[in-house]
Amino acid sequence: MKKIGIGLLGLGTVGQGVANIISNPNDRHPLVGELELVGVAVKNLQKSRDISLPESILTTNALEIVNNPNIQIVVEVIGGIEPARSLIIEAIRKGKSVVTANKAVIARHGEEIANEAKAAGVYVLIEAAVGGGIPIIEPLKQSLGGNQITKVSGIINGTTNYILSRMDKEGANYDEVLKDAQDLGYAEADPAADVEGADAADKIAILSGLAFGGAINRADIPTTGINQLQSIDVNYAKELGYAIKLLAISEKDKIESQSQKSQPLSVWVEPTLVPEDHPLAGVNGVNNAIFVEGNPIGQVMFFGPGAGSGPTASAVVADILNIAGIQLMSEDKSSNLDPLLSAKSWRSCHVAEQQEISKKNYIRLIAEDTPGVIGQIGTIFGQRKISIESIVQFDASESEAEIVVITHKIKQGFLKDALLDIKNLHQVKRIAATMGCL
Ligand code: HSE
Repeated sequence: MKKIGIGLLGLGTVGQGVANIISNPNDRHPLVGELELVGVAVKNLQKSRDISLPESILTTNALEIVNNPNIQIVVEVIGGIEPARSLIIEAIRKGKSVVTANKAVIARHGEEIANEAKAAGVYVLIEAAVGGGIPIIEPLKQSLGGNQITKVSGIINGTTNYILSRMDKEGANYDEVLKDAQDLGYAEADPAADVEGADAADKIAILSGLAFGGAINRADIPTTGINQLQSIDVNYAKELGYAIKLLAISEKDKIESQSQKSQPLSVWVEPTLVPEDHPLAGVNGVNNAIFVEGNPIGQVMFFGPGAGSGPTASAVVADILNIAGIQLMSEDKSSNLDPLLSAKSWRSCHVAEQQEISKKNYIRLIAEDTPGVIGQIGTIFGQRKISIESIVQFDASESEAEIVVITHKIKQGFLKDALLDIKNLHQVKRIAATMGCL
């Protein structure tokens, strides 16, 4: 069967991540092997990159990708408004489905693009536009479709969360940490979009539209970033038991069965004090977390890396596979099932024998409190090729002591043999507990 042609617009941080996945299909969903990177539009052919692609597929003319009849799915990872918007629309008009990570374009021109796609009978998928690698668009569009959504809130900018976490934990300097976020590929080309809150506002506009069933006017969202935040406020918040997080919130005050759609939404982006014991306070570094509240589900939280090459590429490829699955289904006359939705088992897997499993362990022993007992236990572990992370004696009484051992990651077969040897030591009365340890 002919492969599905993919055209990439952009070979920056995310584009390289996508090209990497498509070029290395092993151990991924078999549909990845059905994709072929046919063309890649770049700004500069000479630029040195971490990935090496055949020169023949590179071009500086993005229209060549959009017009190429061998490309069925165009992936837009250029970012910014223009030329991204025009290229997306041109690709749609050429009958190609589009996958984009571009929140700025979707937040402002999403409705126009959706109308074009509807008219052309193609898909435009945007999983990577919000939350980096976190699946949140599909759940809002599909999995949570049976709910009346009341609130969507969370941390949806990785760069600012990375900066705030390091300021909070290390007292790090704002400018230095921003530079690190840029070097790590988290920040936008112009990081003002991150630190001034515009990126989070784009994303909450998109999430609101999906959750509440209508396009949002992006310009209506009150937005405050972290660029005016002072470290003294981070310190005071900490003393009062709070972490400061850049939150994006979209909520409906109440659900009225008849007039639900006419109610205004409260939507805003703002640095916010979050109580230390709130789950969002523990979301650190480049991670994002999104809470969705609805009826009848209650509250669900989506958590994971919110920016960066690999996570964002993971979301882009998820969208490519969704479209590829539908295309293959329509071509493959022997099956009318979408390969992603069907229950077909697609990889052979087998479970390892218990003794082959490698993991860390906690072991508590009751032993006589006599000289040399810890040494003997240590020797047995050593003979059985088990590396110990810590060994501590607790609660020694006149007659007995409790000894707790934490191992490094070891094969469970070795541990079983070691515990048999230890049980046979006359100073050891019993093995009182064994557990896994992360
Ligand atoms: N600059 C964005 C962020 C990238 O830091 O979250 C992911 O959209």
